[in-house]
Amino acid sequence: MKILLDTANINEIKRCIDYYEIDGVTTNPSIIAKEGKAFIPHMKSIAKLIDDKRTLFVQVVATDYEGIIEDAKKILNEIDSNISVKIPVTKEGLKAMKSLSKNGFNIAATAIVTSQQGLMAAKCGAKYLIPYVNRVDNILGDGTNLVSEMMQMMINYNYNSEVIAASFKNIQQIHNCTLNGVHGVTISADLLDSLVHHSLTDTSVEQFTNDWMNAYDNQTSIR
Ligand code: E4P
Repeated sequence: MKILLDTANINEIKRCIDYYEIDGVTTNPSIIAKEGKAFIPHMKSIAKLIDDKRTLFVQVVATDYEGIIEDAKKILNEIDSNISVKIPVTKEGLKAMKSLSKNGFNIAATAIVTSQQGLMAAKCGAKYLIPYVNRVDNILGDGTNLVSEMMQMMINYNYNSEVIAASFKNIQQIHNCTLNGVHGVTISADLLDSLVHHSLTDTSVEQFTNDWMNAYDNQTSIR
């Protein structure tokens, strides 16, 4: 299962790569706007932190076919040729996915809220499908079920597109998707930390340390 970091914050990326096994970084225009930095130089600094084994996802901003194609080329030519280009699933987006994927671009179809949108994007050559779990849950939908349906459709039609579930707001959503075998998840640094941290584990570690210190002259490691 792939774990991608949903951020454009350099410190968060460095910290998470240091501590965890991260398969890449996903961004979108809102995430990048939050950093308030010049787009191309900032993305180049992020690309430098991502080695060949990891993937960086950068989203187009234009919404019409010609604009999307131009944005995609700019992203690859001016930032890094290894980037996967995120394109929202709209009519214009699908048209762009079709031509860009034929020309060897790695496409991530994003902002997916129905399984049929995912299927259409897979058919247009998208390598990754990014369903928005929390945004679907928020409108009384079932984000987990959306992900499961998309996984099933990829099996039904023998498509190789990977489902990378996104837009998580809690651990339960991630748990449900991973139980159903999702190919990958993209999550914020905070949520990644909460996936690992548990107060009961802290209490156990504290007890181990105290017992050891009492028995071995206040030592806090093995001497
Ligand atoms: C995915 O690639 C998106 O960047 C992201 O997960 C969207 O999440 P949001 O609903 O928190 O904006």
